[in-house]
Amino acid sequence: MDCVYLDYNATTPIDSRVLEAMLPWLKEKFGNASSKTHPLGWAANEAVEAAREKLAKLLGATAKEIVFTSGATEANNLALLGLFGLKPEGTKRQIITGAIEHHAVLDTAHELGRRGFEVTLLRPDSTGRVSAEAVREAITERTLLVSIMSANNELGTLNPLSDIGAVCKKAGVIFHTDAAQAVGKIPLDVERMGVDLLALSGHKFYAPKGVGALYLRTRTPRLRVEPITFGGGQERGLRPGTLNVPGIVALGEAARIAREELTAESARIGGLRDRLFHGITARVTGVRRNGSAEHSLPGTLSLSFEGVDGSALLVSLPDLAVSTGSACSTGSAEPSYVLKAIGVSDRLAFSTARFSVGRHTTEAEIDRAASRVTEVVLKLRGQLASVVGTAGAPA
Ligand SMILES: Cc1ncc(COP(=O)(O)O)c(C=O)c1O
Repeated sequence: MDCVYLDYNATTPIDSRVLEAMLPWLKEKFGNASSKTHPLGWAANEAVEAAREKLAKLLGATAKEIVFTSGATEANNLALLGLFGLKPEGTKRQIITGAIEHHAVLDTAHELGRRGFEVTLLRPDSTGRVSAEAVREAITERTLLVSIMSANNELGTLNPLSDIGAVCKKAGVIFHTDAAQAVGKIPLDVERMGVDLLALSGHKFYAPKGVGALYLRTRTPRLRVEPITFGGGQERGLRPGTLNVPGIVALGEAARIAREELTAESARIGGLRDRLFHGITARVTGVRRNGSAEHSLPGTLSLSFEGVDGSALLVSLPDLAVSTGSACSTGSAEPSYVLKAIGVSDRLAFSTARFSVGRHTTEAEIDRAASRVTEVVLKLRGQLASVVGTAGAPA
């Protein structure tokens, strides 16, 4: 069955240009980037350094500020545990983070709490945003780190990074952002935004799964974090282990493409997301849009359908790949903690679908998705017969 893929926030397919770039490094150019004694090793090392440059450029960073990891989860862990690990007995023992962060940050913060550090969770507003004012009010003389995500994975809501960065800088507090959902989708500049640490994952922007990076500020102020794994000294000892050369090359190429195409692509994707929203709401009433319409990732649309069970909705739509919430926490029968935190009732939270549009989505797919969602929602509500006649939804 043909399936319309609208789950780009869960993962993206590899861009064919990215695949082309990485293939030689899986085949004939298979050297270990740490091999210093022969050309295969030198070539691998050069390719890694070229990728580091490209990724740094996308973020407004310098190459030596990039540490390659297996993804955003590891990068977030390295940032948070690595920073606090350096100062186990210090007086700055507080981390401030948001209540709707991804588990990669929330569970790491929880672990810091278990190790005796002070964890403050900020509630977002009803659109999922944490204001710079809320951060300012929460900062104390004990605060070492503020960690606020760039964009929420379920809602698409963007946080005011530059404002939060300015507050942190003024207070002398380190600012980390989990940018897994933002990199490659919106412009990011660590200098302009005052970001000290930033985590990203390749598979969220058309590179393969299993590769990512941590940006770690080495310009003023020069930051240090403690490694959380130990081994052969790669990545300046911060992330030891044989480098994933094909993955890193792919990440670099994905970053190059994003830098060149981001502006045009985000406009196109935003247009498709709006088309989907209007295509559904023109024919279905009782739809609530979750998150911020104003401050949002271009491709994300979270909708709650009154009177419709979300899992029944998805079961009835096997030809649409969409998500009920965060793909990373499926299997849970609990309503999404993100929706709960922004004040969505349990009943509505269970009636929610997250659509995420990406590089390969077409207008025809959006129109088909809008028709299919309309049809199924009306059918599940028992409203189909009357509306099919007037709105012309397909049978
Ligand atoms: C906001 C956010 N942070 C972190 C992650 C974790 O990324 P990965 O599983 O690639 O490590 C995700 C993945 O869904 C995410 O959306």
